[in-house]
Amino acid sequence: MQSTANFERFIPESVTQAAYSSFQQGKALFGLAHNNLGRRLTQFFAPDWEKMGKPLPEEEIQALKQSGEQLRQTDWQDAQDGVYPHSLLFDNAWDEFFLYYPAVWLDLPLNWQKIRDKKHQQFSAEIDQEGFPSYYLQNFHHQTDGYLSDWSASLYDLQVELLFSGNADPMRRRILKPLKKGLSAFRELSPKQIRVLDVACGTGRTLKMMRTTLPKVSLFGADLSPAYLRKAHQLLSKIPGEFPQLVQANAEELPYQDNYFHGLTSVFLFHELPPQARQNVIEESFRVTQPGGIFIICDSIQLIDSPQFQTLIDNFPKTYHEPYYKHYTTDNLGERLEKAGFENVEIEHHLFSKYWIAHKPV
Ligand SMILES: C[S@@+](CC[C@H](N)C(=O)[O-])C[C@H]1O[C@@H](n2cnc3c(N)ncnc32)[C@H](O)[C@@H]1O
Repeated sequence: MQSTANFERFIPESVTQAAYSSFQQGKALFGLAHNNLGRRLTQFFAPDWEKMGKPLPEEEIQALKQSGEQLRQTDWQDAQDGVYPHSLLFDNAWDEFFLYYPAVWLDLPLNWQKIRDKKHQQFSAEIDQEGFPSYYLQNFHHQTDGYLSDWSASLYDLQVELLFSGNADPMRRRILKPLKKGLSAFRELSPKQIRVLDVACGTGRTLKMMRTTLPKVSLFGADLSPAYLRKAHQLLSKIPGEFPQLVQANAEELPYQDNYFHGLTSVFLFHELPPQARQNVIEESFRVTQPGGIFIICDSIQLIDSPQFQTLIDNFPKTYHEPYYKHYTTDNLGERLEKAGFENVEIEHHLFSKYWIAHKPV
């Protein structure tokens, strides 16, 4: 029941729960309406797009609704159990929403162009592409300039939240409970001595949640995109307390010494990596994890254990340009983690996401 937000001391629990439920349902409805309108316009202006995906069967829609409800319940329960403050449940960048929502629509015609031309490796002339791995130079999910412009970084959080109908942050939050539990293995250390790295931290949403949940722990973030790191810097610099250390780096070659971190996380990275890069990132993560430390991956559900979402999984890479996703959906990351040396790999599922919680032997 403990929490840090002041308002929780004055507002009855039932009111907070009802507010949370309405907030999430409102986001889900808004996301659905937005996606429906976007889909109709795309079908009209880029007719090829329509042929790429199949409509979801009724049972898949029902299964999704049920999973969404379960996710909301788990999210609420973790706040109730004191994993994180209730205030995190309501954390929404309203200023960004009002600033960038019109831009999301303005960006859409650029997506239609890419779909019509079947060109998915397009970057503005001023973007320096040198030094990035070739697999990275893609307009993943039709992102204008891929991950390499400030425009892309500004729209990304909102686009992901809309894509997942308001469930992106609740899915990210599911790493917090296993992370806290994993870090408890180092309870003899002071919180400041504990180091946690978010691999492919993007715009810093997960680091922000960690800062709220683990206020004293030393946080680090690594990502290949300078633009996304600039955006992360903006977001994280608003939070009081120690600033997370951000570094531009390829997760296949992390610039840290062996055994440096007590915990590592990675959210929504692996489906955007080709198979060998997935293995390299896992091995690199193992190298920089302390014996006894924990590595948590959150990424898309996979066909191998979520066959009830087959249409959704089949549609996603066809309609959103995700060149490595099909292979990812049948890739056994558990085996990859064990091959690298991790053990006791636990698996969880929450709505569109799957979680691997891996431990480095002591
Ligand atoms: C789908 S985004 C996820 C971002 C963030 N973790 C989140 O929760 O929204 C994928 C991120 O992975 C980064 N990325 C992709 N390949 C990478 C690599 N090899 N090394 C480091 N970062 C990489 C991209 O720059 C991008 O920020």
